[in-house]
Amino acid sequence: MGDRVEIFEVGPRDGLQNEARRIPTAEKIALVDLLSQAGFRRIEVASFVSPKWVPQMADGAEVLAGITRAEGVSYAALTPNMRGYQRAVAARADEIAIFASASEGFSKANLNATIAESLARFADVAAAAQADGMRMRGYVSCVTNCPFDGPTAPEDVARVVGALREMGAYEVSLGDTIGQGRPERVDAMLERVLEELPAERLAGHFHDTAGRALANVDAALARGLRVFDAAVGGLGGCPYAPGAAGNVATEALDAHLAARGYVTGLNRAVVAKAGRMAQDMRGG
Ligand code: HMG
Ligand code: MG
Repeated sequence: MGDRVEIFEVGPRDGLQNEARRIPTAEKIALVDLLSQAGFRRIEVASFVSPKWVPQMADGAEVLAGITRAEGVSYAALTPNMRGYQRAVAARADEIAIFASASEGFSKANLNATIAESLARFADVAAAAQADGMRMRGYVSCVTNCPFDGPTAPEDVARVVGALREMGAYEVSLGDTIGQGRPERVDAMLERVLEELPAERLAGHFHDTAGRALANVDAALARGLRVFDAAVGGLGGCPYAPGAAGNVATEALDAHLAARGYVTGLNRAVVAKAGRMAQDMRGG
């Protein structure tokens, strides 16, 4: 039996947040319910951000209320501030994620805050999560490139990873937000980041804009990472990152990992069906 790799499904959140068409809540619920049967242990289903900033995610509470929760699956939500955290708790999210940037340009565009300001906000969320026993994941965006500031220095990523670790994030997901990373840059970034957090507590989150997501996954596998975020149907992008295309497709990642002898435990047929459903949602 090969090494286990976990795919963290982020399609219902990172996938759908960028869609121009307002997707009916019932369609989102149907997608999550199908994904719940595919064997994922974690599915990101909502973000409790400002609806003025990301209207597509405004119905996060309704999505969480409407899904059929599968045993052993953790339903996750992004929380940008205390208001978002309180909404996530009220909606009974199983875990939350705070999301910072390694670059100032994207931090400003995505959170209307400097990195330092955003980390101060997240510290309040982290303290509340700790007090409530709520599991908290962390994201760092723009780990190799920023759409505003250009290439990102590994040191800048490491600093934010260290801050999220200090706040109690159980895992930090490293985002190539605009999919411009190259394997050698991912490798150099990881070399430095691994000084802050061991591979068991890191995840790779590669967007596939330039078709290099799978090569970047390979670079991260070689550094010992065994958790990767992906979106069924390759949906996605970030509305505040010009040029950000979809996440690496779950189907493609699963096949890629299997070809390399890794075991994800996913049900391929269900994942494929969810991928088709996600694509249809995009098409409207
Ligand atoms: P702001 O405009 O500076 O803050 O936004 P504000 O406090 O002035 O809030 C603006 C309005 O939103 C106010 O309403 C607030 O009440 C309301 P008004 O008074 O004008 O009527 N508001 C909220 N409403 C509901 N829930 C909330 C909330 N917060 C404020 N939680 C803010 C600052 C952080 C809110 C904003 O910048 C924001 O929501 N940003 C999130 C953007 C986002 O969701 N981006 C995509 C997710 S990140 C991503 O995709 C990257 C990732 O995939 C990894 C990778 O690929 O790299 C994770
Ligand atoms: Mg993303």
